[in-house]
Order: sequence, then C-alpha cells, then structure tokens
Amino acid sequence: MTTNPSVQHRWIRWPEGATPRLGYGADYNPEQWPREVWREDVRLMREAGVTIVSLAIFSWARLQPTPDTWDFAWLDQVMDLLHEHGIAVDLATATASPPPWLSTLHPEILPVTRTGETLWPGARQHWRPTSPVFRSHALRLVDKLATRYATHPALAAWHISNELGCHNVHDYSDDAAGAFRLWLRDRYRSLDTLNHAWGTSFWSQHYSAWEQILPPRLAASHPNPTQQLDFKRFSSDALRDHLCAEREVLRRITPDVPVTTNFMVMGETRGMDYAGWAAEVDFVSNDHYVHPGPQALDELSFSANLVSGIAGGRPWYLMEHSTSAVNWQPVNRAKLPGELARDSLLHVGHGADAVAFFQWRQSAAGAEKYHSAMVPHAGAGSEVFRDVTRLGATLAALAPVAGSVRKAARAAIVFDWDSWWAAEHDSHPSELLRYRQEALDWYSAFLALGVRADVVPAGSDFSGHDVLVAPVLHVVPAELAKRLTDFVHGGGHLVTTYFSGIVDENDHVHLGGYPGALRELLGVQVEEFAPLSDGEQVRLDNGDTATLWTEAVTATAPEVRVLARYADGPQAGRPAVTRRPVAAGSAAYVSTRLGPRQLAGLLGGLLDSAGVVSELPAAARGRVDLTVRRDERAEYWFLANRTDEPVDLAGLPDGEVLARSWPTPADGSGAENLAPRGVLVLRLSDGGAPPRPV
Ligand code: GAL
Repeated sequence: MTTNPSVQHRWIRWPEGATPRLGYGADYNPEQWPREVWREDVRLMREAGVTIVSLAIFSWARLQPTPDTWDFAWLDQVMDLLHEHGIAVDLATATASPPPWLSTLHPEILPVTRTGETLWPGARQHWRPTSPVFRSHALRLVDKLATRYATHPALAAWHISNELGCHNVHDYSDDAAGAFRLWLRDRYRSLDTLNHAWGTSFWSQHYSAWEQILPPRLAASHPNPTQQLDFKRFSSDALRDHLCAEREVLRRITPDVPVTTNFMVMGETRGMDYAGWAAEVDFVSNDHYVHPGPQALDELSFSANLVSGIAGGRPWYLMEHSTSAVNWQPVNRAKLPGELARDSLLHVGHGADAVAFFQWRQSAAGAEKYHSAMVPHAGAGSEVFRDVTRLGATLAALAPVAGSVRKAARAAIVFDWDSWWAAEHDSHPSELLRYRQEALDWYSAFLALGVRADVVPAGSDFSGHDVLVAPVLHVVPAELAKRLTDFVHGGGHLVTTYFSGIVDENDHVHLGGYPGALRELLGVQVEEFAPLSDGEQVRLDNGDTATLWTEAVTATAPEVRVLARYADGPQAGRPAVTRRPVAAGSAAYVSTRLGPRQLAGLLGGLLDSAGVVSELPAAARGRVDLTVRRDERAEYWFLANRTDEPVDLAGLPDGEVLARSWPTPADGSGAENLAPRGVLVLRLSDGGAPPRPV
C-alpha cells in the first residue's frame, strides 16, 4: 500500500450495528420538489439500494431566508424521513452558494477576475475565498447547522461547501490582494527574500514596501512568473484555509463526525493542489465527469488512480459522477449500455468505498435540468433507473471489498501541481505544452501494455516502487532532486521527459544546462530547447514520429545508451531517448513528445529492463484495465473491459467471482468472457497465484 502518514482517515459513521459495506447514493436536493415527492424518493432509494445521500448542498437561501430568520423545519423532516428508511446523510454545510440577500447586503463578497470584472450573483459560488464578510456569514451558518443536527442519528459525515474553487479559485479582488500579501509575508518573511525569489531586478519590479504587491492582474505584458506561481499556490491555500475554518467549527461541535469535501481531480481542473489538502479532511472525496475523446476512459482511470494516490492508498468516496449525459459540454452524449456500471466500478477498483451521482432526481427546472440523474425525467420505469438498481445490487455484493486498500503497483507516475502550473506559464519555449496530457499519455501507454501503474503526488514516498515515470517534472527543488537520485541509486528506474528538472521552487532556472537538477543523474546535457510548431513533426531513427518539442541533447556520461536518435530536422543525429544505467537502477530521458501509442513501444522496453511485467493474460492486455485492492485476507481484482468487444479472460489466476456487471456474457460465450464494457471482480484468497500461461 502507498500510504501518506499525514493523511487522516476516519470513514463515514454508519449507523450502529451496520455491517461493512460500500456506500451508494447521490446528491439529494429535496428542496426542488414538493413534499409528496419525498416519500416516493425514499421508497425508490430503498429499491435502488441507496445507503447515503449528500444533502443541503445548495440550501443556504432556504435555510436562512433573511439575515435573521432561519428555517430548518423542512430539513428536519427530510433528515428524519431518510433516517426512518435507513439512509445515512452526508450533510453539507450549505455554504457553496450564498443567498441573494447576502450579495445584495454585501456586494464586497463578489469575486473579481484578472481583468477586473465582477462575477455577479445569478449562478453559484459567487464569493471571494478571502472575504472576511463571507467567511463570518458562512461560519455562522455552519455553526447553526452543526448545533441543530449534532445528535441526529442520520448524520454520517459532514460535506464542507461543494467543489471548493470550481468557479472562484482565482480571485483578484482587493481582499485577495491583502490576503496574498499576508501569505507572502509568511512565506518570505522579508522583502529582500521576496525580491530575490521573484527576480524583481528584471523589468524594474523591485518592491520597497509590501503594500506595492498585487495579484497578477491584467498587465501590459507577461506578469512576473514567480508572482504567477505564488498566486496559484496562494489561491489553492486560500480555499484550503476556508475548508479548515469550516472544519474547525464542525470539529468543535461534533468532534466524532468525520469531515470531507469533494475534490475535483478530473480533466484540466487544476487550481487546487489536492495533494496538500488531503491531510485536512477525515477522508478524501472526489467528483469525476467523463470528458469525451479518445482517452476518455483512460482519463477516468488516471483521475481515480491519482485520487487514490492523494488518499495514501486508503478508501475514498466518489461523491459525484453521472449516470448518463452531463449538460455542460458542447454536445452531451448519453452513456452506452454497460458504461454506467463500468465507470462506477472502475472508481471502486481504484479505492472508492462509496459511489454517488449528481444527482438523485433529475431537475425539472434550473441550469442543470438536462443533466442525467438516478431518477431521470422519464421516471423510475426507465432503463437508467434499472441500471441504477442493478448497480446497487452489484455494490451490495462487493461488501467484502469495503475497507481494503490499494495494492501498490511496481510502477508509478509522479504528478506534481507546481510543475503543472509552472510548465504552462506564458513566455515559455512553447505555449502548446500540456502537462497533464503528457502524464495521461504515459498512463495510456501503461494501460496499452496491461501493466498497472499507480499515480502518486511528487511528495510521496517513492521507495515502494521499482519504476517511476515523471513526465515534464518541471519544478525540481533540491529536496526532490535528492529523493529521485536516491531512488535511482537504490536500484529504482526513473523515466523523465523534456522540460523536466528545469527550475527550482522559485521558478529560477538551474544553471549549467538542461535538464538542470536532473542533468547529472540522467547523464545528458541540453544546450537549447527546440520546440516544434503546431502540426510539425520530425522522425526518429526507430521510425517513431516526434511532435511538440525537440532538444539539442548530448550524452555526457560514457555509460549512457542512446535508445533513439533524431533522424531529421535540425537535431538529426542527436540522441532523442537515452538511458543511463546507475548501479542496479537506471535513469532514462525522453526529449520529445511521442504520444500514447509510441510511448507504449518505448515503455515496454524500459519495463522489460526493469523486470516489470503485466499481471494480465496476453489476450486481455490493452483491453482490460486491471486494478487491485487488498486486505489481510485477500486480493480483489477489478477487471474492466475498456472496449466495445468481448474479451477473453482465460489464463487469469483462479479466484472467486465476487461480482460481475451487466450485460453478462452472451449465451455460450463462456464464463471467462468479459462482456463489452463489462466488469468482473475476483477475490483471490491466497494473495493471487501468478497468471497461467496462455
Ligand atoms: C459538479 C457540481 C454539481 C453539479 C455537477 C454537474 O460540478 O458539484 O453540483 O453541478 O457538477 O455535472
């Protein structure tokens, strides 16, 4: 198991006497419906196997209709009703969307964009993370709610706010400016230190008083890069600070009730450094929505895997995903048969011990009325609701998995928010570089080979892994360089790429040639970056095609092996991919972008050298996403069919079938066939015999 000792873990407080189980549920928004519907809701929840709902997420205006009036009667009734039906409540603090009276009385809580525009009320999350006025109103509400429901038997967990930072992470208001200065004073202590860190000798930016410092608002040209990086760090910290402020109220009033908030590890959502947030909650929760495209399913698996890494390998809560279409993409596709279950169970394979949807009942009005739900507009007689009910039964059958942890893979991909933020700044060699895409491409390569890889934050303990892939690890402070060097000298195999090792924590270039902090370890030296234009390609001598980036690479250590050279373009003849053996380990460098398919070829060779092999039978490699959880009794193998064709699983280790999603294999196709988009969960009691040869 990968564990991060700083991550706390107190799980949902199930009712006394409840047997271990996986949670199943949704965001429940009863305030959108007349009371008659509530009884029907709980009846259908029972039918679907729902065990927990998140309640009151957007209820502030109903709970506190005016500054001095409160209305909890309706929520009391809903809490009681849910409890009577054995459904636990993850109760929201309701602070996500301030009511109109608050923004009318205090327009100074409204966020301001980089270009100075106010974000007005009318949608949601229109509040400044650093507004003292907002904070005091929010904490007053939290106090009221916590006091009222402290002893309610349905209360199983607290859900702070909702998707903190979804719409308001980067606020450039005067409140933000003041809080940014305080954050900087804390970080740098003296103006001299800040001036050095920000490189203010450049462009006459030297500060002589703290009051002169501003967020990186719309400027005449490129804003100072370290100011930009620090503002991103500060903005993430400011929201974390809000999380902690609400949590402290809850801990004071209900010390025994675990606290969480729903992270958004998905797609290009990048504002919050969740690796640094995980220690602030009792258990990690995440929301995930499928982003269409050729790597949609890889991205789901990558995100769930990273959440597990953030949670230190311990169970976490999938707080939201969709039963079918969302409503916020240009074209919102409905899910295909089998996708609802496969998407959910992939998260469970990656450690989710509770699975929930946005939302229980599809809204008839409002901005999300075309977003799918567990009970769609068509009602409970629908295929979606039948799938929802089947999933409830499947999750019940998976109760033995509850509490198990991730079985560490031998390989891991290193993920780092500082590198994500800094590598994509303006005024760089190429604006086309996409940090997360490069990491995802490597993950796709692992999936194509059928080799499990964990995704872990850069601050993790690397010692449990044999292979580390650190794509575009751009920000490498001395401490991280040392950990990577120790990893390799201890027999580990490191793979890193272009634009890695370049800057320190202040975004200052490591001088002497690239890849800076990793130059000696890799045994290569780069004098100049040579990025390619959009659509431009160069060939490598192994037949691969390189895009985005090339470099003038020289091998500096005699033992460095050149695995591929540039075959044309200005770098023709120079090394493109290298590997330096170091004691029993190695350090490999990929100086260009190869994309998932070609990376699979390269990675296969690198994994061979490290002795890392697929645990899947050959016919399933690339077609099946394997995730493994374990406890002291058994291993749980989740096998998800990534394709629209049946997959032959003959040759898997023997195990008891714990659950199988639908559709089940077609008649006569054999029990070892995995249906298109199907999932099979096996329990291997002896810890898993090696795969039989096929
Ligand atoms: C999330 C949010 C939900 C709902 C959902 C729709 O971002 O937390 O309230 O808006 O997206 O996909």
